[in-house]
This record gives sequence, C-alpha cells and structure tokens, in this order.
Amino acid sequence: MTRPQGILRPDVLAMTCYPVPDYRLPANLAAQLGERLVDVALNRYPEPRPTALIEKIKRVMQVPAACELLLGNGSDELISMMSMACTKPGAAVVAPVPGFVMYAMSAKFAGLEFIGVPLNVDFTLDVDALIAAIKTHNPALVYLAYPNNPTGTLYDDADIECVIAAAPNSLVVIDEAYQLFAQ
Ligand SMILES: Cc1ncc(COP(=O)(O)O)c(C=O)c1O
Repeated sequence: MTRPQGILRPDVLAMTCYPVPDYRLPANLAAQLGERLVDVALNRYPEPRPTALIEKIKRVMQVPAACELLLGNGSDELISMMSMACTKPGAAVVAPVPGFVMYAMSAKFAGLEFIGVPLNVDFTLDVDALIAAIKTHNPALVYLAYPNNPTGTLYDDADIECVIAAAPNSLVVIDEAYQLFAQ
C-alpha cells in the first residue's frame, strides 16, 4: 500500500494544526437554538443565495446598495474562497505578521505564495515595508485584519489608506472578524 507521505504534499505534511479549544454552548442558548432548529429543513441543501437574509443584513448593517454581499460559513470559508478564486501561476498574498494564521495556510493550500511583512515593534503597520512588498510581488490579495489577531491592534486609518492606494491591482481585504470586541 502506498504510504500517505508519498501522496500528500510535503509542505502540507509540514504544517501544524490550527488549534481550536473545546467549547460548549450555554445550556439555555442551546435550548433556544434547538427550538428554532426543529422548524428548519435540515434535510435540504441550504439556499445557494439567501436573498431575504442578504437584504436584511444590508438593511441592518447599513451596507450601501451598490455593494454586493457574499455569505460564508464563518470568515475562514470566505478566506478560502478568495484564495481559490485568485490562484494562478505566480499569484501571491501579502499580509502583516504576526497576523491571522489562516491567511498563510489558506494561501499555501491553494498554491499561492504567501509574503508576511513584519509589523513594527509597537505592532503598528510597517507601511513602507508593506508597500515595498506590494510593489515587488504585485499580490492578488492583501489582508489587513482590523483589529489584528493576535496583537489586537487597530491600525491607523491613514496607514490603511496608504496600503490601499499602493495596491490598485490587488483585492485589499479588511477583515473585521473581531470588530465586535474592539472600540
Ligand atoms: C482576523 C480573523 N479573521 C477570520 C477569523 C475566522 O473567523 P470565523 O470563525 O468566522 O471563521 C478569525 C478567527 O480567529 C480571525 O481572527
């Protein structure tokens, strides 16, 4: 029998897992969820484009009418979709490091080159280094997590605008997954 080591990509085998601590919902929340779920047709595939939900989110979150909305099963799925959609020979991803680990992992899984640009010692953006990396690698994707995980930094607006202005050929993703825990 062929050993998996001979089949699996060495760079994937060399990766370490993304640890997620065990967590259970509080009992009252689990009960409330259960009451709602009995009415959901779980035996059916979900709607591919849940228009009513999208319209409601746009209204509640005051999303400008001209903006499109794509829903994912958590932001990890959206990150993975973006990596897959941008994969081409030579395509790259630029993001500050330390940053959210899935940017690098998802890029590597999809065969994109990942370029991590170290933050300044006070965890602010090293704008010059980021702009230099963008000019050198012309990335398909640039990620800025706001606030950043794991440093908790809320980057300076002017710094973010400089990075966006320096990347006219890239999709610049402002990832606000932890926005609810920030000011
Ligand atoms: C910056 C950032 N983006 C995305 C995610 C993934 O979030 P989700 O649980 O919605 O997949 C995390 C989770 O830690 C995160 O820190």
